[in-house]
Amino acid sequence: MSAVFRVGLLVGRERTFPDALIRAVNDRHEGVSAEYATVDVTRADAPCPYDVLVDRISHEVPCYQAFLKHAMLMGARVINNPFWRITDDKFFNAALAVKLGVAVPKTRLLPSKSYGPDISSESLRNLAYPLSWQAMFEELGFPMFIKPHWGGGWRDVHRVGDEEEFFRAYDQTGEKAMIAQEGIRWTQYVRCIVIGKQEVLPAPWDPRLGHFERYTGAVASMPPLDEATRERVVRDARTLCVALGYDMNTVEFAVRDGVPYAIDYMNSAPDFDVSSLGERQFEWVVNKMADLVIRRAKEPALEITAVSQLLL
Ligand SMILES: Nc1ncnc2c1ncn2[C@@H]1O[C@H](COP(=O)(O)OP(=O)(O)O)[C@@H](O)[C@H]1O
Ligand SMILES: [Mg+2]
Repeated sequence: MSAVFRVGLLVGRERTFPDALIRAVNDRHEGVSAEYATVDVTRADAPCPYDVLVDRISHEVPCYQAFLKHAMLMGARVINNPFWRITDDKFFNAALAVKLGVAVPKTRLLPSKSYGPDISSESLRNLAYPLSWQAMFEELGFPMFIKPHWGGGWRDVHRVGDEEEFFRAYDQTGEKAMIAQEGIRWTQYVRCIVIGKQEVLPAPWDPRLGHFERYTGAVASMPPLDEATRERVVRDARTLCVALGYDMNTVEFAVRDGVPYAIDYMNSAPDFDVSSLGERQFEWVVNKMADLVIRRAKEPALEITAVSQLLL
């Protein structure tokens, strides 16, 4: 069957995952062709040449964010939906998880350490002073984690053991909005790859190990999960991805006293490199992503005239 639908991939430096996805889609001969997308000077009134775009990099390339939002307006399906992934943050997500009955570490939003040159204390009259640090220390205890409310790749994530370490770390955070979280002392750590909001592959993942050993080394470094906990992480991972609108995500849980606490579930372009995932997981991801993009490519394009139609 000759290809009638086009899938474009927007990527950064990674090669193994996008190459394998393009090959998998094209090899199925289902009337859908996949390729690396080309972004040129883009006309506001031009249609988008792709039926589906897979976004692996717009978090680092802002003009791609505008390109992708425009593509959706023109009827393309974008994985992940840029309207969702630009709006949420780790504080909002923690509060949403609580509402959904998913266990999360106790979480607090912190006013920033500093502000831009145009902002004086006059501009900040709504901020309480002094801030109620002591109440937070008592409620969250130590160790505590502080991290940007919008971030990834462990950048500016600090584990602090006492008040002094907290302020030493917080004082380095500049204009970033940070969250603080109780540190979960876990016995097992699980990372679920979630594709199309429903397909879930949970696997032990050990953040204490080196980057390339986290999946492969975790089987030996921690006790296995019992069936009930495994079922719960799969259910919770689905619940979170449906609520957040992510079609491609990883959801991490730290298990303490048999309860899986969701730690990081805002990974709109998760690391899918074969060297991090290992062969088995890599093959699973490529297949599920190929199923997803083919299905989405065949969906009819919607006539979009309002942003609210795009939050699907
Ligand atoms: N509240 C927490 N309790 C225990 N460990 C945590 C907590 N928050 C973060 N971590 C550890 O720090 C790592 C990085 O934090 P994460 O929230 O995933 O940041 P990023 O989005 O930058 O990857 C996690 O993989 C986990 O090992
Ligand atoms: Mg993370």
